[in-house]
Amino acid sequence: MRLYASYRSAVKEMECLSVSNASHPALWSVILAAGKGTRMRSPTPKVLHKLAGRTMLGHVMTVVSELGSNGAVLVTSPGTDAIASEAGRYGVPLQVSVQDPPLGTGHAVMAALPHLPVTEGTALVMYGDTPLITTATMQALVDARNENDAAVVVLGMEPPDSSGYGRFVVGDAPGTLTAIVEEKHADEALKRDGICNAGVMAIDLKRLRTLLDAIEIKQPKGEYYLTDIVELAVARGWTCLHVEGHWHEGLGVNSQAQRAEADAIMQDRLRLAMLEAGVTMYMPESTYLSADTVIGAGTQIEPHVVFAPGVTIGENCHIRAFSHLEGAVVGNDVEIGPSARLRPGAVMGDGSKIGNYVEVKNTSFGRGAKANHLSYVGDAEVGERANIGAGTITCNYDGFNKHRTIIGEEAFIGTNTSLVAPVSVGDRANTGAGSVITRDIADDSLAIERSDQVEKPGKARSMREKLAAIKAARSSGQ
Ligand code: UD1
Ligand code: MG
Repeated sequence: MRLYASYRSAVKEMECLSVSNASHPALWSVILAAGKGTRMRSPTPKVLHKLAGRTMLGHVMTVVSELGSNGAVLVTSPGTDAIASEAGRYGVPLQVSVQDPPLGTGHAVMAALPHLPVTEGTALVMYGDTPLITTATMQALVDARNENDAAVVVLGMEPPDSSGYGRFVVGDAPGTLTAIVEEKHADEALKRDGICNAGVMAIDLKRLRTLLDAIEIKQPKGEYYLTDIVELAVARGWTCLHVEGHWHEGLGVNSQAQRAEADAIMQDRLRLAMLEAGVTMYMPESTYLSADTVIGAGTQIEPHVVFAPGVTIGENCHIRAFSHLEGAVVGNDVEIGPSARLRPGAVMGDGSKIGNYVEVKNTSFGRGAKANHLSYVGDAEVGERANIGAGTITCNYDGFNKHRTIIGEEAFIGTNTSLVAPVSVGDRANTGAGSVITRDIADDSLAIERSDQVEKPGKARSMREKLAAIKAARSSGQ
């Protein structure tokens, strides 16, 4: 039996564990991101491509943060300030090391070494382009290292296609590791049977420098392999171990197709977590979630809904088909859609409702307020139980500046009203259908802004007769 079997339960893929190593003073993460990412064929740096609304680097930094790392060192190539600033957004003290030129994974960790302020504890090595790694798995590596005083603990996996990965040479004692052999140096038996190296490692900081100093450059590519530290440690009589994770966790993204594959796996994880939390999804495979989407129990999601970043939904809501939500906070018992759009700053009070083709931006809807059809409500406050009629538009932009619209409690906005901001409509006030409202309306008032209706008795009939006569004369050739 391999030692890693005892960790299997801890590294189950769906487990979403938030743990803190704060009591352990030295846990430093090193994130390797100096790769060029040319196979993405994109002007955006590889690690800034997103899965579930969060950059790949952001997913890795989220794990680093959840682990309670004391700090992190990001290894990048020159001219990649955007990568460093993204890595800095996850609440972990960050050092940046520029590796120029990049001479392999061992060389990358050497570049990080001067930025590691401590010489005791654990260094975790992670890749910026391996976004499906989980906190639970990384914690299992840290625990295995601490419990066994191991020099190195490496994550292994058994992917359906093992090509390109280094292979483990395991020791006689359960869970021990004696070497990692890169595929191009491995014999047929090892290539066929060896567990694959997922790439992430937990390394004893006390022994890290000694190990890095001992790595020799490997030809033909002229690289320093980080993986060599296992053999170097074992030669010194130090223990090296391996822990197994689901192969998804080691999935590296090098191309757009692999990004899409990783995103699909991430979506499945997120959907399953939603379903387990009591959300009803009628066609879960059609729902696109963000890593930070929060949805309360009892909420129903119809097919083809997109949750872009920053969305929180309460309990017992109903999100109908084809809606798009981003940066929105939705209370309980709210109905959205079908085909509604909530943009950043939308705040929907309990029991409120927006229907088809309604767009809401930077606007709060009070409890029970409604806009059921075909409206744009932007930069506004809508009072409790107010009713916004079909076709209402808040004219919030004058071409230079944005202005606010205030709609009072229980106000009734007639169909096709244009509210030219800045403007306010009082509590319980009404607007007549088709009005262009440019001045504030007092509480309980009715404002109508349109021409008086003119009626001409019998005129419709005389027009009809006249036009029919013209048509008849034309068709008889006169
Ligand atoms: C590496 C491992 C291999 C493992 C595989 C898992 C080595 C020698 N091999 O191979 O055993 O199975 O990962 O995916 O470590 N990077 C730098 N600077 C460099 C080189 C790489 O920052 O000089 C970064 C890359 O951006 C990437 C990561 O390190 O994020 C891994 O590098 P990559 O070239 O993809 O290593 P592999 O050949 O895949
Ligand atoms: Mg790789």
